[in-house]
Amino acid sequence: SPGSVWPHPFSHVSTAQTFPVAVETFVFTYAPKSFKCDLLAEAFKRYEMIIINKHIQTLVTFRQLNTLTVTSLQVNLMAACEEYPSLDMDESYTLDVNSMAQASLSAKSVWGVLRGLESFSQILWESDSGQIVANKTNIIDKPRYAHRGILLDTSRHYQPLDVLLENIDGMAYNKINVFHWHIVDDQSFPYVSTVYPNLSQMGAFNPLTHIYTPEDVAAVIEYARLRGIRVVPEFDTPGHTTSMGKGQPGLLTECYTGCSPNGNYGPINPTVNTSYTFIKNLFTEVKSSFKDAYIHLGGDEVSFACWQSNPNITKWMKDNNITGDYSKLESVYIQQVLDISAAIGYSYIVWQEVVDNGVKVKADTVVEVWINNHPDNELAKVTGMGYRALLAAPWYLDYISTGEDWKRYYTYEPSNFNGTAEQKALLIGGEACLWGEYVDGSNVTPRLWPRASAVAERLWSQETVNDVDAATPRLHQHRCRMVQRGIPAEPLHPGYCKHEWRN
Ligand SMILES: *[C@@H]1O[C@H](CO)[C@@H](O)[C@H](O)[C@H]1NC(C)=O
Ligand SMILES: *[C@@H]1O[C@H](CO)[C@@H](O)[C@H](O)[C@H]1NC(C)=O
Ligand SMILES: *[C@@H]1O[C@H](CO)[C@@H](O)[C@H](O)[C@H]1NC(C)=O
Ligand SMILES: *[C@@H]1O[C@H](CO)[C@@H](O)[C@H](O)[C@H]1NC(C)=O
Ligand SMILES: *[C@@H]1O[C@H](CO)[C@@H](O)[C@H](O)[C@H]1NC(C)=O
Ligand SMILES: *[C@@H]1O[C@H](CO)[C@@H](O)[C@H](O)[C@H]1NC(C)=O
Repeated sequence: SPGSVWPHPFSHVSTAQTFPVAVETFVFTYAPKSFKCDLLAEAFKRYEMIIINKHIQTLVTFRQLNTLTVTSLQVNLMAACEEYPSLDMDESYTLDVNSMAQASLSAKSVWGVLRGLESFSQILWESDSGQIVANKTNIIDKPRYAHRGILLDTSRHYQPLDVLLENIDGMAYNKINVFHWHIVDDQSFPYVSTVYPNLSQMGAFNPLTHIYTPEDVAAVIEYARLRGIRVVPEFDTPGHTTSMGKGQPGLLTECYTGCSPNGNYGPINPTVNTSYTFIKNLFTEVKSSFKDAYIHLGGDEVSFACWQSNPNITKWMKDNNITGDYSKLESVYIQQVLDISAAIGYSYIVWQEVVDNGVKVKADTVVEVWINNHPDNELAKVTGMGYRALLAAPWYLDYISTGEDWKRYYTYEPSNFNGTAEQKALLIGGEACLWGEYVDGSNVTPRLWPRASAVAERLWSQETVNDVDAATPRLHQHRCRMVQRGIPAEPLHPGYCKHEWRN
């Protein structure tokens, strides 16, 4: 029904009574005792634009009718402003449009106000006569999971800065709160490091045009911060590092054929101290440029073939009594990287192989489950070991198929694994991952939305909100809303939007 909210709120009570909204003169105000906040001043401007923009596309100009009219939204922020969003942030809020057409929003943190502003913008809808209206509404809302992420990969293809920002807008419209930035990988190293400028100089597709400068990175973090979205960078090692090796001679393992190097390189060389000095310097810089408490350390898909071929590695393993045990060698590396990260003050997320291979990780480690072979069993295992977990396996959006694949993402219930209540509580959320092999600026946004919206609702809304038939018209409405706001979200099914793309 018109004026519904995506993702579905914890509680949404509304009646068929509607009030016209005075869009042209609409204002956001603070309640008398409310805390004030720069971040909200920016948010008010954004949502004024969204509300006015809706109106501009309509034919009818609002006239002061002889009826109750929604003229403002009064915001009550009940605690001091916070600077950066975090895993522990409070995103709950209540939103009310009462029978006197008075609209009010209150929250215990600035992040809750941001989520409530998004919901408020969604309950406004355009009547057949072209008037923007709001139903009498009471929403009490809070997320089910604290970590609701989207992974974008800027290594397999370079994703232009404005496309990243456009997708951060998309995240805000879906109450996604983490941008997992898989910034580098084998194919390219677009991150411009100040301590190791040769990494992008030699590892980017183009060191002048296909890079993220420190200013670009700061711009992404600020854009996301203003929308209550964390930016968690991933620097995946020891595998997935081909591009990293180009600007840092001696970092990667030389692969051998027989007795001589064959010109190929494998994972980072775990047997030399210089590798660890490099990681320490790089991550210290990353910690100061990305503000989040977490870094994603990767640790997935380490190929052992090159290590096996290299005589120096073989000798080192013999000297250290781990001959033939390459999982152990990987553990030696990961262990040191975890220790370095902890020492510089980072909490960390790792892909599941790290614990599968028996590496000793800190108790507060977050393990991301991605292998789509009974991820429920893996969640049971990881949480059984006492670690917090993220689920990504059912939500690899780079796997595309014709038809309505969002339904598959929507109906995967993350908590459906064998475990105690304590184990269930260790599942802190999940991520939709759009790996970059076949997406760049031309198609990344439509491929992500609205498919990722299905994951957004699964992670925000209650477990009982899982009826595909009930969700379909709301998701269609939400997709049209994104299109109207300038996000080129692809269609769900045959049909139309009242305001078509760029129309
Ligand atoms: C809003 O009111 C209209 C009738 O004016 C009704 O059709 C619609 O279902 C209501 N929407 C919500 C979310 O309650
Ligand atoms: C970068 O690479 C160039 C060319 O190989 C080299 O001369 C220079 O010393 C390197 N700079 C650093 C900081 O490693
Ligand atoms: C590497 O570091 C370890 C521990 O700090 C030290 O014992 C060892 O001598 C170092 N090796 C080299 C070759 O510098
Ligand atoms: C491998 O060992 C040889 C002989 O000890 C040495 O000359 C060479 O520098 C080593 N290579 C690496 C990459 O450490
Ligand atoms: C490896 O094993 C030998 C023989 O058991 C022992 O003397 C040596 O100290 C061990 N080395 C390491 C690094 O554990
Ligand atoms: C949970 O464990 C029971 C008994 O061990 C088993 O029958 C069931 O299939 C398991 N459920 C899941 C979701 O793994």
